[in-house]
Amino acid sequence: MPIKELQYLKNDPLEHNGTPSQSSSNINKASKKAYIESYGCQMNFSDSEVVASILIKDGYTITDKLDQASLVLVNTCSIRDKAEQTVRKRLEYFNSKKKEHSSMTVGVLGCMAERLKHKFLEEEKIVDLVVGPDAYKDIPNLLKEVANEKEAVNVLLSKDETYGDVSPVRLNSNGVSAFVSITRGCDNMCTFCVVPFTRGRERSRDPKSILTEIKELVSKDYKEITLLGQNVDSYLWYGGGLKKDFNKATELQQKTALRFENLLSLVAKMHPKVRIRFSTSNPQDMSLAVLKVMAKYENICNYIHLPVQSGSNSILKKMNRQHTREEYFQLIDNIRKIIPDCGISHDMIAGFPTETDQDHQDTLELMEYVKYDFGFMFAYSERPGTLAARKIENDIPETIKKKRLSEIIQKQQNHSRFRTEKFVGKTVCVLIEKTSKRSEDYWSGRTTQNTVAVFHKKNYQIGDFVDVKITSCTSATLIGDAVQLSNHI
Ligand code: SAH
Ligand code: F3S
Repeated sequence: MPIKELQYLKNDPLEHNGTPSQSSSNINKASKKAYIESYGCQMNFSDSEVVASILIKDGYTITDKLDQASLVLVNTCSIRDKAEQTVRKRLEYFNSKKKEHSSMTVGVLGCMAERLKHKFLEEEKIVDLVVGPDAYKDIPNLLKEVANEKEAVNVLLSKDETYGDVSPVRLNSNGVSAFVSITRGCDNMCTFCVVPFTRGRERSRDPKSILTEIKELVSKDYKEITLLGQNVDSYLWYGGGLKKDFNKATELQQKTALRFENLLSLVAKMHPKVRIRFSTSNPQDMSLAVLKVMAKYENICNYIHLPVQSGSNSILKKMNRQHTREEYFQLIDNIRKIIPDCGISHDMIAGFPTETDQDHQDTLELMEYVKYDFGFMFAYSERPGTLAARKIENDIPETIKKKRLSEIIQKQQNHSRFRTEKFVGKTVCVLIEKTSKRSEDYWSGRTTQNTVAVFHKKNYQIGDFVDVKITSCTSATLIGDAVQLSNHI
């Protein structure tokens, strides 16, 4: 596999590429049609569904054809420099389209909008509209400003906006799995990360609106719900959702607060025929209580995405991660004890400033201990404004970063194969999601551990839970034969 800055060994639950469109025709000036392209984490894709809902209320229809759109919105990602470069290239392309069709409005949403703010209007002349992640309800007003040729920027971050009252319109949905945001923002301030600056303070969403959204999805026959947040495990609702104000809540509010394990068991109990997943878990927040709830309910998938970033205590400290390598091992041991067949994946950063060869060896050794099912691996990318950028010199040469990254990726590939091979000969329950990319005759779905499985379609349908006997595998995919509709989930 070629080595890139980031490497996906599986269908990434958190990151996707946008969907490029090409050909051209006349834009229908009279119609209000919006085209939305999303980059970055799953939260961005989920936010685009909120934006679609707001636009539809404002009289728009959503189109997947760029050439028919009067409004083009790009929901952007700032996590690494490369993500921003991808968006910039895309904006250049939209610029050329706009020259052909002067009535086209182009807007930037998401983390790049928040990070670069007015610079977009000044530098990137093509952009008419700049909207940060907490200001999407203002889009209809901002569009009026654009029509009046005024500057249309809203990058205000909010302490309470969770879009809990907006019912998202599912975009590009397979009708089987859906994402439901339960927290927004992040208070953790990892020194490498731009998210706390672009997405603001951490707040949890009112459980009532979460449960209503899930109920609606289940009534539409969705079979898998993923609860989404930067740190889902720190979900906390005490009548308000702003994490940093929890200490100011009354004693009663604190005592009766709803935590992640409570929300998780509520959802699992209410919908026993629906698979429940969640992402992302921060090791510092993941509790034994959550693991016990996972073990108790069959419909909560046995899979945890547990980013670690580094295996070295000194680097973890410099990253401002709130746990040691030993505490992480303890958590892994607890997971294996409480949920023996749990799939575990990770995020890893190679070449954080000051990282020595020994630090890197510590990372490889940590991976050896856990033997992750899969992972998302990145070379450190300095982000302007972060503590690391301000205080620590980005001193690891790119060649060394790449070398270390390729060693990490190679190790992960071996471990992924080790994990998938363990399934060969076993029968596993798979939720069918779509036609396999390999062949029209094959379905593709995932096991509870989030491992992709493909098998001959026979008479099964999208949305079926099927027992599949695994006959062979690659490092990323199980290949098998469907046996029967499953009694499991
Ligand atoms: N808690 C978040 C993390 C978002 S960022 C979540 O929902 O997953 C996703 C991953 O990108 C991080 O875990 C980290 O591994 C990587 N990342 C973040 N900032 C980075 C940077 N400056 N350089 C390289 N990788 C980075
Ligand atoms: Fe970023 Fe760390 Fe939060 S990786 S999203 S600051 S937990």
